[in-house]
Amino acid sequence: MRNQTRVLEFLFLGLSEHPEQQRFFFRLFLIMYLIGTLGNLLTILAIGFDSHLHTPMYFFLSNLSFLDLCFISTMVPKMLVNNLLGSNVISYQRCLAQMYFINAFGASDSILFSADRYLAVCHPLHYGTVMTSHLCALLVAVPWVSAHLIAMIHSIFIDHLSFWTNNKILHYFCDINTLIKLSCSDTHINEMLVLFLGGPEVLIPFKCIVVSYTPIVCAVWKVPSAHGKWKAFSTCGSHLSVVTLFYGTVIGVYFNPTSTHTTQKDMIATVMYTVVTPTLNPFIYSLRNNDLKGALGKLLGLKHFSKRPL
Ligand SMILES: *[C@@H]1O[C@H](CO)[C@@H](O)[C@H](O)[C@H]1NC(C)=O
Repeated sequence: MRNQTRVLEFLFLGLSEHPEQQRFFFRLFLIMYLIGTLGNLLTILAIGFDSHLHTPMYFFLSNLSFLDLCFISTMVPKMLVNNLLGSNVISYQRCLAQMYFINAFGASDSILFSADRYLAVCHPLHYGTVMTSHLCALLVAVPWVSAHLIAMIHSIFIDHLSFWTNNKILHYFCDINTLIKLSCSDTHINEMLVLFLGGPEVLIPFKCIVVSYTPIVCAVWKVPSAHGKWKAFSTCGSHLSVVTLFYGTVIGVYFNPTSTHTTQKDMIATVMYTVVTPTLNPFIYSLRNNDLKGALGKLLGLKHFSKRPL
């Protein structure tokens, strides 16, 4: 019975129907993807090749870059290739696999990121030196394992849904919410799961970050000199903007109980957390760091780039 009602493939309707806008999005995604890949790859390589940077903090940053890289690579290349080939088809299995990896990488990214921010802000001393490599590996492994578990639960429950004749996905990747709205089965359990598992995936990490940053924001407020204030504010402000952009858009899209279909606004929000923040992350958190700049300079063979005496 289930096999008969199951569609074999889905069609992406993408971000826009107009060829002019499609070309614009194609260029935008291509440029963002190239910048994002380059920034994250350089972060990973610079940390990997510099033994001075083999500390918990840099392992975390490198792992985050790796996750960002995986995350954007689950959807952007497929979208670009489809666009080039003038095709918008994805098979049912691939669609489910894509959704699995997007959920898994997205959730690991979110959880690991909050752990990283919590440690960097609240326990900088432990972060720098005291943490053992075992603890560090554990802190990386827990987000990975829990995120894959969550993604697996979502996939199993989505696989039980039936999709009748309507196989047009008003989106540029197999988004869990869009699939739920497309299905003709009873999707109550799936909706509940999105909300319930969204807690450990998104809400708790977000709360953790907000709590970590609150004392910092208060301290910046009290910095007496205007120059010092501006410097602290620009670092802290850029961190918080990216955090807000990522978690704000995710929460707006997935925790909006009144929405019955994917709107244009959801789509723009989705572009933010799927493409824009993973591209910005390495430039905001990693590549502004002087030690990392030095390592990057050495990697690229630019001697004057390095500020540290060798
Ligand atoms: C991620 O972190 C682990 C544990 O600290 C480390 O061994 C590993 O090299 C890191 N992976 C990447 C890609 O940076």
